[in-house]
Amino acid sequence: MASADVTLVFLDPEFPRGRVVDAGAPQLFVTDLGPARGDGIFETLLAVDGQPRKLSAHLSRLATSAEAMDLEIPGREAWAEAVDHAIAEHGETFGAQERSRLAVRLVATRGNEAVHAPAENAKAGLQPTCWVQVTPSSLPSKADAKPIKVLLLDRGYDSGAAARAPWLLLGAKTLSYAVNMAALRHAKKNGADDVIFTTSDGRLLEGPTSTVLLARVAEDGTKTLYTPERKTGILPGTTQSAIFELAEQAGWKLGYGPLESDALFTADAVWLASSVRLVAQVETVDGTAIGQDPELAARLTDELWDFAERIS
Ligand SMILES: Cc1ncc(COP(=O)(O)O)c(C=O)c1O
Repeated sequence: MASADVTLVFLDPEFPRGRVVDAGAPQLFVTDLGPARGDGIFETLLAVDGQPRKLSAHLSRLATSAEAMDLEIPGREAWAEAVDHAIAEHGETFGAQERSRLAVRLVATRGNEAVHAPAENAKAGLQPTCWVQVTPSSLPSKADAKPIKVLLLDRGYDSGAAARAPWLLLGAKTLSYAVNMAALRHAKKNGADDVIFTTSDGRLLEGPTSTVLLARVAEDGTKTLYTPERKTGILPGTTQSAIFELAEQAGWKLGYGPLESDALFTADAVWLASSVRLVAQVETVDGTAIGQDPELAARLTDELWDFAERIS
């Protein structure tokens, strides 16, 4: 049974470009530590017209996440081949139209803890389970992206936790996203669209699936783009990084925090940025409108979208 518009390619040493499997058939053991414990890592990237965007940055972050949790995963080439294969396979199966904008997810779990291999074949340790999943992206483009309402939520740790307690894996993109999803549900139940997390001592962190960006325009017209400080334990955003590079080339100044939550209310515009959604303009935070000048905010948002759409 084929599954709706999903293409799956497992990384497998016997298949240099990865092994295509039926996404409509069972593929994971329930004893795999990914589903069983959320013990694994992932990346989600955007592919446009068959080309993955910022693949190298995503592969680097996957490797950093793996290192943070002592997970040995296949090398960059194996992942890049599997991504390429999965996108091509998706195009062949579902047609070119489906290929125009795709979400590509790379997942590595710690492996199946109940491998019943004969003793002589038993491997020394667990082998990670790794796959690439491709689905059409239904997320908005610049033309239909709507400003969003955001709630500020306490993430429950202070700004020193990431350095003090590395086992919290705060800068790693692990499969344990239940807290992030719960925060999004909380926002929806309370009439908002998304969330910005803060530390318990009031520093700005990130969204559950995005990086916070904010802009200020000085009286002399100088534009500065800010993002919260990474060492407070946020995921280093590949979209933020790419947008910063393009903004700097366009003459913007850059600022890397630390930022307190009141920085949102004195900004001229605030956005959440991520690989698949690209840019979402924040309209209100806890019900308070962001920016004094809606036209200026709209102009800045336009510029940010231009940067985001130029990311390759
Ligand atoms: C917690 C978190 N922060 C930030 C981001 C944005 O990262 P990127 O721009 O690399 O997609 C994501 C993306 O999913 C995320 O999950």
